[in-house]
Amino acid sequence: MPHGHCYLWNKWILLAQVGGDSLIALSYFSIPVALGYYVIKREVMTHSKLVWMFISFILLCGMTHAVSIVTVWYPLYQLESLFKILTALVSVFVAVSLWPLIPRALRLPTQKEMREKNRELQKEKEQLREANIQLRRYQEKVIESSKLASLGEMAGGIAHEINNPLSIINSSTKVLEELLKTEGIEKQEILDRINNINVIVRRISKIINGMKKVSRTGKNERMKKYSCLKVLEDAISLSQEKFKCDGIDLIVDSSAISDETLVECRPVQLSQVFINLLNNAFDVIKSQTKDKWIKIILSEIPDRKIQFDFVDSGEGINPYLAKKIFEPFFTTKEVGEGTGLGLSISYSIVEQMKGELFYNESYKNTCFSLILNKAKGT
Ligand SMILES: Nc1ncnc2c1ncn2[C@@H]1O[C@H](COP(=O)(O)OP(=O)(O)OP(=O)(O)O)[C@@H](O)[C@H]1O
Ligand SMILES: [Mg+2]
Repeated sequence: MPHGHCYLWNKWILLAQVGGDSLIALSYFSIPVALGYYVIKREVMTHSKLVWMFISFILLCGMTHAVSIVTVWYPLYQLESLFKILTALVSVFVAVSLWPLIPRALRLPTQKEMREKNRELQKEKEQLREANIQLRRYQEKVIESSKLASLGEMAGGIAHEINNPLSIINSSTKVLEELLKTEGIEKQEILDRINNINVIVRRISKIINGMKKVSRTGKNERMKKYSCLKVLEDAISLSQEKFKCDGIDLIVDSSAISDETLVECRPVQLSQVFINLLNNAFDVIKSQTKDKWIKIILSEIPDRKIQFDFVDSGEGINPYLAKKIFEPFFTTKEVGEGTGLGLSISYSIVEQMKGELFYNESYKNTCFSLILNKAKGT
């Protein structure tokens, strides 16, 4: 007998029963959908069995109300019983599983505690930011002082390079003085000597310009589109004499790139990296007895990048040392001879220019490679 008989098919009772069950069923169907959507969207407790059982429990509650509507007209009491038993089993599971969770839930921080924690985190974030700024300042100082140290290393060579031509100028002017006293002197001879002096003066001013550029503070230096050959020239102009004195050949092979190639860099800092690499190569090969050379090879590689290979006549670095050489303070030099900061500072300078610096094993000799981005629009 359908349930409607018990309601005497009274339309008001039917309306109240069916209307009430319909609204309850609809709400019960909507709640788990909303809950499931939230759980999946926020990815919270997606693996919790209890959440999914709770969702099933509400769905089953909805189903029992939906079946109650059907039984008003059709006596499907077996189906109704089945849903009731299922709902009962799931609800018992949910009820039993819920109690042990209460102490854990109580241990969860309250909103007030969360707000407090958030404030502490904000404070720590601020302190971290401050510390970061301090660290950057120290890093800049270390870079600056290491640059001065490497310039110091070059000072001997530079002094020599300037002193030699100065003495040539000195003797040339003396000769000129004598010549001018002599009768019937050839004008051309005087002009040749003056020309020689001019060439030497230009050479000296090139060296001094290089010094000025490299020793300029690289602090707060901006990224620029800059000629990679020019930076290289500045660095080399300071090292050339030192290499010459020690019988080291310095060869630059830039045939693979155009003279106007520009890279994205901080020129002063980049010249510091070049000087560090040249000094390192010099320190190793100066004691070799023969075949002493340093080759700088420039090439354009895929993805609009320029690669500088600093190869020297050394025999390469063994893999165990190669792993350590970029660590700060790692040095194989005698105490007082090296700080072990050259490569690590160079690495961070190049990294800040979005480039790469690495020990290149693909050469038979020792090679350090530096990769920089080619300037956009060139
Ligand atoms: N061209 C090279 N050939 C062989 N070994 C090298 C070369 N360049 C660097 N190294 C090794 O890497 C180590 C670390 O170099 P890095 O420039 O960081 O410090 P350093 O040269 O020892 O000290 P500093 O740069 O202060 O003079 C060197 O001590 C050396 O052992
Ligand atoms: Mg060094």
